[in-house]
Amino acid sequence: MAQKKLPLEYRLKRVIKKILGRPVREGNALKVRHDDRFIVSYPKSGNTWMRFLVGNLLSNEPVNFFNVEYLVPDMYWNTDKHMHALPSPRYIKSHEPYDPRYNKVVYLIRDGRDVAVSYYYHLKRENRMDLEFSDYLKKFAAGKLDDFGTWGDNINSWMQNVGEQSNRFLMIRYEDLIRDAQAELFKVCQFLGLPKSIEQIDLAVQDSSFEKMAEHEKRTGKENMFKNTNQKIKFIRSGKVGSWRDMFTERDKDLFKSCFGFTLVALKYEENQNW
Ligand code: A3P
Repeated sequence: MAQKKLPLEYRLKRVIKKILGRPVREGNALKVRHDDRFIVSYPKSGNTWMRFLVGNLLSNEPVNFFNVEYLVPDMYWNTDKHMHALPSPRYIKSHEPYDPRYNKVVYLIRDGRDVAVSYYYHLKRENRMDLEFSDYLKKFAAGKLDDFGTWGDNINSWMQNVGEQSNRFLMIRYEDLIRDAQAELFKVCQFLGLPKSIEQIDLAVQDSSFEKMAEHEKRTGKENMFKNTNQKIKFIRSGKVGSWRDMFTERDKDLFKSCFGFTLVALKYEENQNW
C-alpha cells in the first residue's frame, strides 16, 4: 500500500492523453464482475472526493493520490492487468453513461453549472484549452469535451434506467456531501454493505476533507496525475457550491437553461437556490 509510483502503463496513458488532447477512453473494454461496486459520475462532480471517502473506509492508512488507485481505481487510467489483479469486490471509478453490467452504483450528481465551471478550470489546468468561458460553455453544452457526452445525457441515462433509489443504485449529491458528509457517507455504507461505526465514518470524512486532500495534492506535487499541469490551478480547487454565479453571464445562463433546463428542474437544482 505504501505505493510511491503509479504503474508504467498508467503514466503512458497520461502521455497519450497529452498527445491526443483527450483521455484514453476504454469504458466498454472493462471486464465487469458481478460484485464490482462503481462510483460513477459525470466528470467534475466530486468523484475523487467519494473515492477518498470510500477508500478511507476500506484502508487502515489515510488515502492519498497513489494508493487510491489500488483502493478505488480509475478504470480509464489503469490497465486491464492492474484491474484484473484486484481482489473482489472491486471499487471502481467510472464516468460511463448507464451500463446494464453495473450491479452496484453510487452515482454522484452536482449542479451542472458548477460542473461546467470546475471542468473549465480542469482543462486549463491540464493545458488543454485556452477558450474564454462563454466559448468553452458552448462546447460543454454540446458534450464536445473528452468524449463523455453531455452532463444531462449522462445523468438522464442513469435516472431513466434505474430510478433514484434501488438496491442497485444510490444517488448522492455533491451539495449534500458539502452540507453533511457524515450523513451521506453513512448512506453509502448502508448501500454498499460496509458495516462501519460512526467513529470510523467520522474519521474517513476527516481524512478526506478538502484541506487534507489539498495537502495530498501539494505533497504529490508534479508527479503522475499532476505531471505537466498548470501548477497555478489546483485539482482540489475551490470545493464550493454555487460559484457558477460568479462566472455565468446572462447569455450563459440562457444557453445552459435551453440545453439542460429540464435536468436542472428534475434534479431540483432550480428550486434549491441556497445550495
Ligand atoms: P471545484 O473545481 O469546483 O473545486 P472530480 O473529482 O469528479 O473531478 O471533481 C472535482 C471537484 O471536486 C473539484 O471541484 C474539487 O475541488 C472538488 N473536491 C474534491 N475533493 C473535495 C473535498 N474533499 N471537498 C469538497 N470538494 C472537493
